[in-house]
Amino acid sequence: MEVGWQERYELGPSDPVHRDLRLSLGAFVESCLVVCGDMGVAVRFVADYNPGSRRIGRLMDTSEPNRTRFTAADVAARRAWRGRWTPEPIPDDLLDELTAITAVRGGRLVALDCAPLRPLLTEASRWFVADPGILAELRKWSRLNPRHPDYHRDGLSDVALALKWYETVGMRAALRRKRSRPHHFGLRAALANGQAKAFDGDGSVLVLLGPVDTDEAGEVRFGRLVQRLWLLLARHGFAAHPQSHLIDCPATAGAVAELTAAVDERPLWIARVGRPDPHRANRVPLSARRLDPHGEHGNGNGNGNSQRKAKKNDLATTIGNDSRTGKRQDRTGGQRGRHRDRRSHRERRRAT
Ligand SMILES: Cc1cc2nc3c(=O)[nH]c(=O)nc-3n(C[C@H](O)[C@H](O)[C@H](O)COP(=O)(O)O)c2cc1C
Repeated sequence: MEVGWQERYELGPSDPVHRDLRLSLGAFVESCLVVCGDMGVAVRFVADYNPGSRRIGRLMDTSEPNRTRFTAADVAARRAWRGRWTPEPIPDDLLDELTAITAVRGGRLVALDCAPLRPLLTEASRWFVADPGILAELRKWSRLNPRHPDYHRDGLSDVALALKWYETVGMRAALRRKRSRPHHFGLRAALANGQAKAFDGDGSVLVLLGPVDTDEAGEVRFGRLVQRLWLLLARHGFAAHPQSHLIDCPATAGAVAELTAAVDERPLWIARVGRPDPHRANRVPLSARRLDPHGEHGNGNGNGNSQRKAKKNDLATTIGNDSRTGKRQDRTGGQRGRHRDRRSHRERRRAT
């Protein structure tokens, strides 16, 4: 099975060097391997990065299932969290374990306090919202109204962004195309300040550094590591809120590298990490997943036997299943029938 991406889902200026695309694909592969191992499906990943074919490699048959310490339930429980956090720090032994796993794979993990990074996040967020190309992508991928046809399929919803109702209204207005300029500036400054709030308080930020000469295939490999770190955090009830613009913004990337004392290294991933406020976490559904098993590269009617096909379908279902809420997504990721989130829009917003 080829693992790759479709051009229409690539980000442009919001992922300027496509680092996050490659990391995410590596993370996806790691999820597949964990789920396969847990289900007893013998699969290995053979890397074959080829940007021309938009491919990172293949999942191939192998002799033995690759069982890992993680399970399909860990994959389903992992999440990005943009809401409130408890004040609990990451325990030292967990941090040591995360650091050791990173070192084995050729990286370095640095834990920083939010406070010194807060002004940098404000600056990076201002840079982010000042770019018309980035705003256009934000407009395209934000799902700020439950009536949006893809609200349950993909993108960043008001709920996933943990927006209060008035923040949703403000963000809608800030992203609107036709506005007088001064009005726009005020709204976008508010948008940037809202983004930077993620570093309020005493929390921790994890920065993953790789060798400065990490190539594109290397970024895919580090994406696999990112997922293992995230899964380990999730196993302990922690979540992450990545803040890629801090390392994409030219004015802040250097400062982040300096705070981590990087030598011949570059930051690849940076995230606020902590324990989500449990009262809220239980009420905020996991993000939508676009599931399109047919893709552009075949329709599943190839010559594989039916057993293998059934296992593939199980895998797609497991990766797209929200095991905690019991919500299942249909082929396009929409939530179906009785599994649908029946709460009213107002209730869902209140849950944030
Ligand atoms: C490599 C990578 C970079 C990401 N960067 C950001 C980011 O800068 N800001 C953000 O809000 N989310 C970021 N995310 C989180 C994704 O948006 C998130 O994973 C996605 O919404 C799916 O939600 P889930 O992780 O809860 O399943 C990033 C995720 C990955 C894997």
